[in-house]
Amino acid sequence: MAEGMNFHVLTLFPEMIMQGVTTSITGRAMEQGTISVEAVNIRDFTKNKHRKVDDYTYGGGAGMLMQAQPVYDAYASVAEKIPSDRKKRVIYVTPQGTPFCQAMAEDLAKNDELIFLCGHYEGIDERVLEEVVTDYVSIGDYVLTGGELAAMVMIDAISRLVPGVLNNEESAETESFHGNLLEYPQYSRPKVWHDKEVPEVLLSGNTKNIRKWRLEQSIVRTKERRPDLYAKYEELQSCLEVLKKNKLNNIDMIELIQRGRAILIGRRGGSILLKDANSGVLFHYADDPKSGEELLQLYSEQRTAVVQQYGSQGRTQEVYLILHQQEMVSHAKEILGVEEIMSCYQKVYTRKESLPITGLYRLDGQPADSGLFIRKLGQAEENAVLSIYTGVDGASYVKKCLDHGNMYGAFFGDELAGIMGIHEDGSLGMLQVKPSFQGRKVAKALETYLINLVISWGWIPYGQVEEDNEISWRLQESLGLYTSKDKIYWMR
Ligand code: ADE
Repeated sequence: MAEGMNFHVLTLFPEMIMQGVTTSITGRAMEQGTISVEAVNIRDFTKNKHRKVDDYTYGGGAGMLMQAQPVYDAYASVAEKIPSDRKKRVIYVTPQGTPFCQAMAEDLAKNDELIFLCGHYEGIDERVLEEVVTDYVSIGDYVLTGGELAAMVMIDAISRLVPGVLNNEESAETESFHGNLLEYPQYSRPKVWHDKEVPEVLLSGNTKNIRKWRLEQSIVRTKERRPDLYAKYEELQSCLEVLKKNKLNNIDMIELIQRGRAILIGRRGGSILLKDANSGVLFHYADDPKSGEELLQLYSEQRTAVVQQYGSQGRTQEVYLILHQQEMVSHAKEILGVEEIMSCYQKVYTRKESLPITGLYRLDGQPADSGLFIRKLGQAEENAVLSIYTGVDGASYVKKCLDHGNMYGAFFGDELAGIMGIHEDGSLGMLQVKPSFQGRKVAKALETYLINLVISWGWIPYGQVEEDNEISWRLQESLGLYTSKDKIYWMR
């Protein structure tokens, strides 16, 4: 089995699954050991002497039903091999399930073991489903001859989110996906083909104009081809207008929308509740106390409905909520039963120009005159990173950021002198320098590097700093970051 993600498929057609997954990128990932896929033949578990797995339906009706016993025993043969500390889900692929989407792929990718159950004939005896299934998922409103293709679609979409499955070039494609907007048109050589010319702006080398043109094209295309998505895009644009009334204080929510990661959970007048599609963190902004409180109430009711609907599925992931008005803290405690874990100011780099790097590090990855160089850290460097990190987020969180390719390190020779990363919610942080390297501009170099990096992605760099963190405060001021007037409140 793989370190990363293990897929198990309970099916009557194991060869169909294995033929599908052993090619292309999933095949490469299996060879590398970042994922594993096993197909378990349900027929091997039947106690029927003719190897039958199906029978007539009680109450009549067309077609045959898969019986509970072979399905259950096939499931048990897989489940008993899985250690109890591995996070697991059991997915029944069925046209009656919740429609599969990118957000669901991201949610499922957070597990260690995924068991897919593929039905055939008219379905599976309800009693075994009740006993083993945690999620019912459909890949669309059409009926396939069996669940195998649906399971393969999901395995493909989930695998590419498992750290290490895509190489750098391939994952860069994901970065450019813009929330609720379709991809813009793209062109490769030659410049002229069938008398059609590549749009002039793409040859200009002017990245700002290129980004602007691509956004316009994405908007036009989405309006035409996916009016449903475009409506969501417009709704978020109108939230953006409200949030921009106080740019520094709301920078996290503004950037969530601009980076295409925001899901609008609810809106009451000028008050807004967003969810980060990546991390699941909730962001609450209250334009006035009344609508802000109503929005929390609305979420509380929705949340109860969600728990009722999925109650048996045991999703107990911790949920974080960030409040942008102090007066909401007591309401949130009361309505949602959350507790305050910290309060911080937002620090924002508001300029478009990158910071100067001379004397800090070099762009070609070679050491600067001081000997310092910076690069992205890999999973293999876990021990070195954890030996430096002593912050509030905890070792398992930092490891997760490392796994997702979001940690960077400053080195002198082979020695890691300091680290900094991009948090799950998109803010910069986790900056720490090894005591023996203090006073050598390591922190300044790391923060400059990360600010310039995220500017190159078209993002506005920001971080969150607690009031008593004087060292960080001074560094942010020296790099020209502006501080929000009010604090934000992290609730759990
Ligand atoms: N089995 C048959 N049709 C299906 C669908 N659309 N999605 C998931 N599983 C299926």
